[in-house]
Amino acid sequence: MYPSCIATQFKQTFEKEATLIVRAPGRINLIGEHTDYNDGFVLPAAIDKAIYFAISPRTDKVCTIVSFDFNETFTFQLDNLIAQPRHWANYLMGVVDEVQKAGHAIQGFDLVFGGDIPTGAGVSSSAAVETGLAFCLNELYNLNLPTMNLVKIGKAAENNFVGVNCGIMDQFASMFGKQDSVIRLDCRDLSYEYFPIKLPNHTVILCNSGVKHSLGDSEYNTRRLECEEGLSLLSQAYPSVKSWRDVSWDMLTSQEANMKENVFKRARYVVGEIERVVVACDALNANDLATFGQKMYETHNGLQHDYAVSCEELDFLVDQTRNDEAVVGSRMMGGGFGGCTVNIVEKSQKEAFLNRMGEAYKAQYGQELVTYEVALTNGTERL
Ligand code: GLA
Repeated sequence: MYPSCIATQFKQTFEKEATLIVRAPGRINLIGEHTDYNDGFVLPAAIDKAIYFAISPRTDKVCTIVSFDFNETFTFQLDNLIAQPRHWANYLMGVVDEVQKAGHAIQGFDLVFGGDIPTGAGVSSSAAVETGLAFCLNELYNLNLPTMNLVKIGKAAENNFVGVNCGIMDQFASMFGKQDSVIRLDCRDLSYEYFPIKLPNHTVILCNSGVKHSLGDSEYNTRRLECEEGLSLLSQAYPSVKSWRDVSWDMLTSQEANMKENVFKRARYVVGEIERVVVACDALNANDLATFGQKMYETHNGLQHDYAVSCEELDFLVDQTRNDEAVVGSRMMGGGFGGCTVNIVEKSQKEAFLNRMGEAYKAQYGQELVTYEVALTNGTERL
């Protein structure tokens, strides 16, 4: 149904054809969680679930936005951007704000947007909204901004206007995705490498816990503060330490006694996870899925016990797979406190896996388990 219904809605609402149709995908992340804002590595990919934009420029300062999925309209002026309490329009106004703060001259626009990225599922629907609009404005107003700048604008919108102090992974993956590839991003210098993923016998399945923790955003910001607190202790002891990337196990353990217990646990997770992504990527290069899967479980254990961003339902979903021969690896994905687990599953066992997981989840929580089998796609693009 998407994107044609978005284009049709645009025509009905604004009585003209849209100038531009853009697709901005959601993302998965195979490994490297909570490492982006700690100067580590991540391994995300764009997926075949996306937000679509139908947009046309205007000659005044008015922006009229129709959310197809919420069936709501929101209008604002370019020179009067006011954040609304927990409103979808903030993701879009945030992008407009960042573009203008960077000194780029734009006019208003008419926009219809919507798509099939589940919200609150940890697959970055908000990043897709941000990168999609940044991409649209760049095209509509010939801003000629490098793609990485559009990523940074999306991230800054989330940080400054929405108020979530996220890292760069989600907007990066939504923008730079490539068909059938995952991307290893070095979040310290933003260099990246595509890993074509050939999984002839396996498939990637997300299991949605259905949990949307309202605490998620504030706990996310708290984790960042805890990381900063630990890092400041370490850099006092070791002046060469500029970020968690520079911290060895020996340095960390030498400071354990000076750290609060929770800060030490966060640090232990981060140092381990930065190292794990490197090992996992080597395993992927060597086609060693067993090691890759084992690293996914190690990540989950760290997120559950040390970083403390999992929840009972996510742990349950991962636990169901631990002795399942059809599953190579499983872990919670994204910021945490709800959302999906990501699972690498043997293709021939897919149906049996889905049945087993669905039955177990229903028996435990009385709820149907929603799952998505995802394909890896290109990033944000003009259609
Ligand atoms: C959220 C943030 C990302 C990243 C992940 C955790 O998705 O938006 O920047 O920190 O959580 O890896």
